[in-house]
Amino acid sequence: KFDGLAKTPPMGWNSWNTFATDINEQLVKDIADSFVKYGLKDAGYEYIVLDDGWMTKERDQNGNLVPDPKKFPNGMKALADYVHAKGLKFGLYNCAGAQTCAGYPGSRGYEYQDAQKYAEWGVDFLKYDWCNTEKLNAEGAYMTMRDALYKAGRPVVFSICEWGDNEPWEWAENIGHLWRVSGDIINCWDCEVGHGSWSSWGVWKIINMHQNIRKHAGPGHWNDLDMMEVGNGMTDAEDRSHFAMWSVMASPLILGNDLRTASKETLKTLTNKEVIAINQDELGIQGFRFTNEHNVEVWIKPLKNDEWAFVFVNMNDEPYELNFDWKKHGIGDDVNGKWLDLSANNLKVRDLFNQKDLGATDKSLKATIGVHDVLMIKLSNDSL
Ligand code: GLA
Repeated sequence: KFDGLAKTPPMGWNSWNTFATDINEQLVKDIADSFVKYGLKDAGYEYIVLDDGWMTKERDQNGNLVPDPKKFPNGMKALADYVHAKGLKFGLYNCAGAQTCAGYPGSRGYEYQDAQKYAEWGVDFLKYDWCNTEKLNAEGAYMTMRDALYKAGRPVVFSICEWGDNEPWEWAENIGHLWRVSGDIINCWDCEVGHGSWSSWGVWKIINMHQNIRKHAGPGHWNDLDMMEVGNGMTDAEDRSHFAMWSVMASPLILGNDLRTASKETLKTLTNKEVIAINQDELGIQGFRFTNEHNVEVWIKPLKNDEWAFVFVNMNDEPYELNFDWKKHGIGDDVNGKWLDLSANNLKVRDLFNQKDLGATDKSLKATIGVHDVLMIKLSNDSL
């Protein structure tokens, strides 16, 4: 990739899903503390990103962006310092248009000046939105901001947020490190919530929104399925499935819940290192839907060392008795030229959520999967 950043999908937290514009300095500090206290940092989460609402409604007389002094009395540099002192990274949000989606000053016409400020403050991640852009060309607008960030000289992960409207996977590989593929997520399993001219999308709506864009994902450039809704109101089973799917899809893992009050079960899901390792696999191959049998979605992801991840999600409204015969399935990823041949040799079967070995592929995989719950498996060459 063009600058060596985001070699694996970025991991972090973003304020929007839970707090919208109701953000402040103490919140960011508390989140940074929570990263350390609850094992999130240790699990690999790194970026703490403030979304829309961090600025005043106007630039100052020199055209500079101004952090809202009520929300951020000590400014952004001090806050970034606090985050950095924890061994974490700090991110901000702006927009390619004249105004952000929530009506704060956008970067249009101020790209180089804003990039300079971010570098002065110590910003490591920029989410860049697409509201109020009128007739701007998307590729050009994102290129301008990318170049401005380079000019400012500080390495910044550049997160493209234009909702997939202009097919960023076709042109953004050398512009941003991740790009949204949909409108905003909402915390439901498979709903669409309309707001007049736009909609918010449940977890499965986003997963199923695009076919055939997985070939555009890889180290340094990721299809972004949006900030997660784990811990925001779905069942624990649904949250596990959501997390498993984001992992197998090699999506950035950006948390969107209130980490200060997260339940034990939520934290257990979010810090599961074996699941995270699937997302962070160095090959960076985005998984794909393998089959759907009896309303059980089966998704797979090729991994390094000829290992494979399997995700079985029970879409039924009752528990499902899985009986999956490994030998009956010819498994291949023709986009990446990876084939799984289980006729001659057997691989070890590991249940990643329960962190339990389940024998090998010579036997059918048998398990009860709860309503909307997931069984996530890694097949490996490890000795049995
Ligand atoms: C858009 C983005 C969201 C969020 C809001 C902020 O809707 O898609 O993720 O950043 O703007 O206003």
